[in-house]
Amino acid sequence: MKIFRNARLRKQPGLHDILVDGEKTVRIAPAGRLEPAPEERDLQGRLVSAPYVESHIHLDYVYTAMTPEEETKSGTLFEAIDRWADAKNSLSKEEIKERAMRGIRQEMRNGVQYIRTHVDVTEPKLTALKALLELREEMKDRLYLQLIAFPQEGYYAYPGGDELVEEALRLGADVVGGIPHYEFTRELGEKSVKKAFALAEKYDRLVDIHCDETDDPQSRFVECIASEAYYTGLGSRATASHTCAMGSYSNAYAFKMMSKFKKAGINFVSCPTENCCLQGRYDAYPRRRGLTRVDELVKAGINVSFAQDSISDPWYPLGDGNLIHQVDFGLHLAHMMSLEEISCGLDFITENGARTLHIEESYGLKEGGPANFIVLDAGSEMEAIRKRAGVLLSVRNGEIIMEKTPSKLVRDI
Ligand code: FE2
Repeated sequence: MKIFRNARLRKQPGLHDILVDGEKTVRIAPAGRLEPAPEERDLQGRLVSAPYVESHIHLDYVYTAMTPEEETKSGTLFEAIDRWADAKNSLSKEEIKERAMRGIRQEMRNGVQYIRTHVDVTEPKLTALKALLELREEMKDRLYLQLIAFPQEGYYAYPGGDELVEEALRLGADVVGGIPHYEFTRELGEKSVKKAFALAEKYDRLVDIHCDETDDPQSRFVECIASEAYYTGLGSRATASHTCAMGSYSNAYAFKMMSKFKKAGINFVSCPTENCCLQGRYDAYPRRRGLTRVDELVKAGINVSFAQDSISDPWYPLGDGNLIHQVDFGLHLAHMMSLEEISCGLDFITENGARTLHIEESYGLKEGGPANFIVLDAGSEMEAIRKRAGVLLSVRNGEIIMEKTPSKLVRDI
């Protein structure tokens, strides 16, 4: 038995004590009401949250940022895809595992315990997928890792891409991916979305599609995802990632689609730092922000999560796996600056991400649930966001798996 005392819980007044027995959270009571336990820890009023959920990253790409000679000249998504296509065929499973593990460690040091990663399967040997399948198994006691069979170069733009996606599902990928805006034509893009949903039905998997990751207002594959999710009944098992073009749609079209998204029940993932850097590249001023309509989606009651997308790869040279930075960027870029919006900021990287991963039942800090939580170096949600607070403690199945000391001012002004 262990007690974590004086925790500030999200969206609840006062302080609480958390009693952990083995791998479970058995009681959460107002501070001072629980009998002493053999092991105790005083959290001193710090904010406790369910662990962060990384809902969109590419672990097979991390730490592959190019040298100055090799880096993309245009800074665009499409040039980065071409660069990656040149590089990926020479990678070994061991090398991918080593880099992916560095990425996982970096995220877990920042409070992540759940990761959904896209894995490029447009490579005949499926080397990256095999590497990530091994890591999923090796890490399963410390990390929930969900793998997406992601055809980076398309179902049809890459010869045999559709068959490679299916083979990845047979090998054990959890989610069906896609990238319709990269296919040659609108028709092939639509066909790829239909194929993704057909595969999800056939293999009983989730769907998460890179969708309309472009400023082109004519890119409207999000309607295909909503329609397939609605008519197949897959609903909230489906996710549209990026949907940057929605920021460029006419209000009339976007307004119409909001009710369709709601009806379909799909999730959205936005990657604020990546989207604002990769998009707007063809604009003179005024320059678009590249973000989907996060504030309008949230107001319409549609699930949105924020994610990292890249850590130092051909698409984005920065990124440190610290999701609170995505909340900071996302709230700014989406004009979500009311006290209520800021106070709910952590939702984007906690419960909203859990809904996207479809793990709500086992997720969250609650009595009877797994003892999985993190402790932030802040006394409230507002302070956590304002200071972009670090994570001091990560508890997984009742065990402390990561601990940091708070940063200390040694000499003041
Ligand atoms: Fe991505």
